[in-house]
Amino acid sequence: MTITYPPGTRIGYLDTIRTLMSGAKFDMLQFSLDAQKQYGDYNFTKFGWVTFYLISDPKIMHEILVNQPEKFHKLKLIKYALGPFLGNGLLTNEGDFWKRQRKLAQPAFHSKRIENYATIMVDFTQRMLDGWKTGETRQLDREMMKLTLNIVAKTLFDADVTKDADRVGELLTRILEASNDRINSGVQLPDWLPLAKTRQMYSDVAELDAIIQRFIDERRASGDDKGDLLSMLLQARDDDGNPMDDKLLRDELMTIFLAGHETTAMAMTWTWYMLMMHPEVMVRVKAEVDEALGDRPATLADLANLKYSEMVLKESMRLYPPVASAGREPIEDVEISGYMLPKGSLVTLAIYAMHRNPQIFENPDVFDPERFSPEKEKQIPRYAYLPFGAGPRVCIGNSFAMMEARLLLATMVQQADISLVSGQKIEPMQLVTVRPANGMAVTVAMREGAPLPEMA
Ligand code: HEM
Repeated sequence: MTITYPPGTRIGYLDTIRTLMSGAKFDMLQFSLDAQKQYGDYNFTKFGWVTFYLISDPKIMHEILVNQPEKFHKLKLIKYALGPFLGNGLLTNEGDFWKRQRKLAQPAFHSKRIENYATIMVDFTQRMLDGWKTGETRQLDREMMKLTLNIVAKTLFDADVTKDADRVGELLTRILEASNDRINSGVQLPDWLPLAKTRQMYSDVAELDAIIQRFIDERRASGDDKGDLLSMLLQARDDDGNPMDDKLLRDELMTIFLAGHETTAMAMTWTWYMLMMHPEVMVRVKAEVDEALGDRPATLADLANLKYSEMVLKESMRLYPPVASAGREPIEDVEISGYMLPKGSLVTLAIYAMHRNPQIFENPDVFDPERFSPEKEKQIPRYAYLPFGAGPRVCIGNSFAMMEARLLLATMVQQADISLVSGQKIEPMQLVTVRPANGMAVTVAMREGAPLPEMA
């Protein structure tokens, strides 16, 4: 079979090995922008022995994610990188097994169900704000991680992790760094090799495992059916009437634990960054929030009156999509738009690059929430804006996350002014999600006369 490649380039074996040995960090975000600029929105790079396709064309995204998803699996490389951590959970699972697990988890994310989570989301934000004082410096990215972690644990597992949140944050950061090194290392080393990094990663995962196991043990001991995700998974039975084994249960919980907080935390962090950099937008958001909420805590019903805030969130996720790319591997040779994607090649659906593609978005680097006004949003080509992916593997937590982000933003804007500590270089870095490479330090000023609603 002759393979016709899209425009692209080849990096020789020696250069590839030299780069890998140099230990230099691979900047996937910049790479995807550069490749798109140089070779267009369907391109390839052959790094020595690995063929790497990069796609930022909405029509091809549609073809792979929606029209022919059964011909693609998640990348083996991602499974190797995240496997020790996420195991066989929803994010990394395939085929009928994935379908079954997705069906089991789905009811926990139905719109009627997630509406009940609104009060918890606002209450936890309130608790965070209660601990803030005017003049303090806080690491916004870490604060957002702790907040969303507490929310996901409470809403989906009815678990309290407030005391563990700092430690969980540390463990997750180290595990994600180790996973990233595994993605970038170019070779899949067996886990039995006595490498210090591998040992550290397994020890970190074991510590997180103990926390997850605690949720399971406590629920089993209580015997309660709380109607949440944990109860649904505990009650699930296969065709032979057997319950899910503990390993799979742990994998599903760990997956939701990670996927359900880190992403939303980054959406919040980058939205705040955009607001701090664009005071004129901040003024409009504040006016909208003040008018909609006055002095009382935000509720689900208020979301209908927070349309501009929603536009701001969407535009921030265009420039800084928390999930910058989705990886796929063809399980057979697949022809897409005139080029063959050979079985086993690495296909990156470059969401970050697509969101900044000048063919699609005019002045793509400019932050402009008006792009998401009701009239203008309709003009965005289909599948050109994909912060939550698309097709059968679309984010299961999409509505959960959008509701959460709007409630958190409104509650924070209502009560605090936040400004960037000067002298910081804020740069995005893809570490599974897109994070600020060196964190984001902010100064807090609690708003004069800001309301302090009663805790539920
Ligand atoms: C702003 C927040 C979020 C963003 C940007 C986001 C983004 C994404 C994206 C792009 C995917 C698809 C990945 C692919 O196709 O390879 C995905 C999948 C997933 N997300 Fe989210 N997500 C967010 C919040 C959440 C929340 C709150 C939860 C759960 C509470 C969640 C759970 C999941 C799970 C389990 C999957 C895998 C679904 C499957 O393969 O069936 N996510 N997410």
